[in-house]
Amino acid sequence: MTTTPDPVPLQSHREDSLTAIVLASFEDSPDPRLKQLMQALVRHLHAYLREVRLTQAEWNAAIEFLTAVGHITTDRRQEFVLLSDVLGASMMTVAMNNEAYRNATEATVFGPFFVHDAPLIDRGGDIAGDAPGEPCWVEGTVSDTTGARIPEARLEVWEADEDGLYDVQYDDGRVAGRAHLFTDESGQYWFWGLTPTPYPIPNDGPVGALLGKTNRSPYRASHLHFMVSAPGYRTVVTHIFVAGDALLDRDSVFGVKPSLVMSFDHMAPHSPTPDGRELQGRSWSRTRFDIVLAPEAGDR
Ligand code: BEZ
Ligand code: FE
Repeated sequence: MTTTPDPVPLQSHREDSLTAIVLASFEDSPDPRLKQLMQALVRHLHAYLREVRLTQAEWNAAIEFLTAVGHITTDRRQEFVLLSDVLGASMMTVAMNNEAYRNATEATVFGPFFVHDAPLIDRGGDIAGDAPGEPCWVEGTVSDTTGARIPEARLEVWEADEDGLYDVQYDDGRVAGRAHLFTDESGQYWFWGLTPTPYPIPNDGPVGALLGKTNRSPYRASHLHFMVSAPGYRTVVTHIFVAGDALLDRDSVFGVKPSLVMSFDHMAPHSPTPDGRELQGRSWSRTRFDIVLAPEAGDR
């Protein structure tokens, strides 16, 4: 007498076998790292598909979504990076590749708006250019983890204007809201920027649609970007955030770290500025960011 096999173990057997066959297909990869990456991807991807019991219609929708991500991506618009950002994959990669080291400043997500060759300003100069916004006095030091100051450290700083746009998001070729400068012989720096304001990540594409469908905001907490480097030290790519900003706990790309939240003091119109700059009766703000660089990995 033949018995009908129990469908549950039969189904799991089929699914297990498929995973095993796909894993085995990468067994002869000559590059061991690529083999590890692909086999782990297959293991986790198959486990995910089985956990959610993905339907054929959902598979189709996922392919359509990824196709749309590809179609909107150009030299100027990287929707795949945006997807990685809103899934926390960018921040996880940043966290793993910038290992905690003593009191060194924490890294955060790079974002798509950095530009090489931003203008050089003197200490005390203004990075705003023609970008609209409230002036903000930014000062601080760059030190190593023992507290020794680092002269001639290079700071790249960039930020959105008060309308929430970076210069590169305009079509007129303007350069504004970005510059680089160096610390002085005692490791100090100071410059004028703009009080950071919140802005949405580009949300007119499939990633924005996904955020909408999942009730998530596209907004980033207000921030000012820094990239700080000096010979012999690990370059840190980071931002500072504004204490009290309502978006600190729901930054769309998970970039906020408590150690990077700074107080930005609001200064009333006509209050004297640190360098005597005349602000024509405008209000301004001021903040301090003391940066600590870790030694390069080989120097520890
Ligand atoms: C930014 O901070 O500039 C940014 C980061 C991730 C995605 C979009 C923008
Ligand atoms: Fe930004």
